[in-house]
Amino acid sequence: MSQKTYRVIQWATGTVGKVSLRHFVENPAFELVGVLVTNPEKVGKDTGDIIGLPPTGVLATDDVEAILALEADCVHFAPLVQDIDMVCRLLRSGKNVVSPVGPVYPTPAFSADVEKIEAACKDGGTSFHGCGIHPGFVGDILPMTLTRLMDRIDRIQVYEIADKLRNPSVYIEFMGFGLDPEVLSTQPNCMEGAMYAFAQSMALVVEGLGKTIENLTEKHEIATARNDIAYPGGVIRAGTVAGQHWEWTAWADGAPLIVYHLYYLMGDDMEPAWNLGDSRHRIVIEGNPAMELTLMATADADGRHPFLGITWTGLLGATAIPQVCEAAPGMVTHFDLGVVRPQGLVRP
Ligand SMILES: NC(=O)c1ccc[n+]([C@@H]2O[C@H](COP(=O)([O-])OP(=O)(O)OC[C@H]3O[C@@H](n4cnc5c(N)ncnc54)[C@H](OP(=O)(O)O)[C@@H]3O)[C@@H](O)[C@H]2O)c1
Repeated sequence: MSQKTYRVIQWATGTVGKVSLRHFVENPAFELVGVLVTNPEKVGKDTGDIIGLPPTGVLATDDVEAILALEADCVHFAPLVQDIDMVCRLLRSGKNVVSPVGPVYPTPAFSADVEKIEAACKDGGTSFHGCGIHPGFVGDILPMTLTRLMDRIDRIQVYEIADKLRNPSVYIEFMGFGLDPEVLSTQPNCMEGAMYAFAQSMALVVEGLGKTIENLTEKHEIATARNDIAYPGGVIRAGTVAGQHWEWTAWADGAPLIVYHLYYLMGDDMEPAWNLGDSRHRIVIEGNPAMELTLMATADADGRHPFLGITWTGLLGATAIPQVCEAAPGMVTHFDLGVVRPQGLVRP
């Protein structure tokens, strides 16, 4: 790996974007050359003001053409919704792209996006890497790595437990917390199709183990608030949605091989009482020898463990950038990246 400085652009400064932006400003392995924002209140502001750091001299812009015209090695593309055509324009302009919005691994559900990305990479001589904590890390490269400790594998279960009351985000409303349970079950919401996004990570593990996903199945359970739950954005009324459990299973050889459990919670005052405790990720591999791994933030002063998934998502993108920039053109998955060697992490 070269020790060059990578010129980077941060596209969107939401929760994930701000984490990587701070990393680019503070890590000498990177030179921040541009910041794209959509929020009119941020346009023209110094990047430092957006992330609470001293001035950087890089002003946020909403001018897409100006960003496309910049000389840069990589764009960390973290908007709220994916825009594959924009990703392709960036790739064709000669910039590599790393994105927490995916795609993370080629599957039939994303074949059209992957084809467009591959064509743009070929034209631009560039690479694309889709990343994130989940999908993108705890359900794929992490269990895949742990399989090296196994003699035989029967099933891999991956849990994401996120307490949204302790770490509020836009997803509280997006995911339909506070709705009547019947309304959530019958109306479209942001988790529509999420199984196919997460199935990319499942496919990485299943194919990594030399198998093929034959079938995907989905379950959704709801828990309701026992009492009103106040949070910074409003109140979850008693009797409305306060907890959701999404369960997705990838079947291979006629049996469930990978099971993902996503538990999103507004605290723990709910019925049924799931009593899941603090936010964390957990991987359980059934087989021989059976094993489990828990991944969580260290405890805050009050002894509770916060959810770090968003922070980790911003850092997973940032730390992959040098290797993605050095990769051969095309879509780069974990299998192509191999062991990622982040740069500039050890510093005074
Ligand atoms: N794979 C994973 O594990 C993982 C985990 C977390 C998030 N994500 C993905 O990462 C992306 C960013 O998440 P986040 O938590 O940072 O979201 P966020 O806090 O809502 O920020 C998204 C940013 O996108 C810009 N934006 C707002 N409305 C937009 C629109 N309609 N179209 C395009 N951009 C818009 C805004 O940027 P400005 O404020 O700069 O204008 C906003 O701050 C999302 O797509 C999310 O699904 C993936």
